[in-house]
Amino acid sequence: MKKQIVVLPGDGVGPEVTAVAVEVIAAIGAKYDHALNIEYADIGGIAIDNHNDPLPADTLQRCQAADAILLGAVGGPKWSNPGATVRPEQGLLKIRAALGLFANLRPVKPYASLAHYSPLRADRVANVDVMIVRELTGGIYFGDRVESNELATDTCSYSADEVRRIVRVAGGLARTRRQHLVSVDKANVLATSRLWRNVTSEVMRTEFPDVELEHLLVDAAAMHLLQRPADFDVMVTENLFGDILTDEASVLSGSIGLLPSASINASGVGLYEPIHGSAPDIAGQGIANPYGTVASVAMMLRHSFGMTDEAATIETAIDQCLEAGHLTADLVRDDTALSTQQVGSALCAAIDAL
Ligand SMILES: NC(=O)c1ccc[n+]([C@@H]2O[C@H](COP(=O)([O-])OP(=O)(O)OC[C@H]3O[C@@H](n4cnc5c(N)ncnc54)[C@H](O)[C@@H]3O)[C@@H](O)[C@H]2O)c1
Repeated sequence: MKKQIVVLPGDGVGPEVTAVAVEVIAAIGAKYDHALNIEYADIGGIAIDNHNDPLPADTLQRCQAADAILLGAVGGPKWSNPGATVRPEQGLLKIRAALGLFANLRPVKPYASLAHYSPLRADRVANVDVMIVRELTGGIYFGDRVESNELATDTCSYSADEVRRIVRVAGGLARTRRQHLVSVDKANVLATSRLWRNVTSEVMRTEFPDVELEHLLVDAAAMHLLQRPADFDVMVTENLFGDILTDEASVLSGSIGLLPSASINASGVGLYEPIHGSAPDIAGQGIANPYGTVASVAMMLRHSFGMTDEAATIETAIDQCLEAGHLTADLVRDDTALSTQQVGSALCAAIDAL
């Protein structure tokens, strides 16, 4: 199979972790005889430096023509001046909107060999396997804004169609898993949440009668995620609530550097990225954890290319490397910690050996 992948390394540790992911893509391509072609483009702070634009037209064109996109991370103190009108994060929001990437999938399945790194008791994180589906192109992040020194207003708005399409993604995923969907809203206060709840109930009743639906208010959901995380199968929610709940859920696994994500559109094209940011505090040291980015490559192969065996090979290699103790400094704080590059070499060796 021949596929074109655009890699957007971005800022901070982004280039370090995507370099490992590119090696893994090459190892998988060689093992399964696929032509997985890579091209690079700028986004975020590096794009502001090079083109004065966080999402240059050339980057967008390449992404629009690609089969999938792999992103490192964007942002950093160099571009964080409060007065700045051009910011790296605008590149991310723009590419999500331009490619129609309305569904953000964040699986949280803590690795058994790392259970002791979780802030929760090991018995609480055992069997946690939750897929959080976050609406990504609507809601308060994209609504009208008024801002002055005395008054500021953000507008949250959702149409029934926006809710329907994300609920269909979540319902479809739940159907292939444990047939349980939790929809999170704030229907006791917000009009958008009442629409969300009504539309979700309707879609699930008519199109996914085999999937059990539960509604939770967002404040309760935040508690339940810590009290009984193993009870969740698929969770669907709007943009702002999803942003917060996915970060909360991420700590269950022990390090933010471990978790992948996918943002997909209606035609299956996706942007894949680790959930962490550009980690400016450790950038340039070669110690960033690359597992979340490599796990994002597995998601790319499965969701955008239908390469299930290849994705499973990467996930098995990750499991083996973690069990063998090939860990970066975010997990082990002694001289057994490996560099980003050393973890990459261990992963490629494990893939070759499988
Ligand atoms: N999708 C994205 O590109 C994205 C997401 C979140 C934040 N950001 C941006 O990243 C910058 C830094 O944000 P932040 O500090 O809030 O979040 P962050 O995720 O970059 O870092 C939070 C903490 O986690 C650590 N960390 C993150 N990734 C790691 C990895 N792979 N290995 C080891 N440790 C890792 C960092 O060292 C830091 O201590 C900001 O400019 C922010 O806007 C970008």
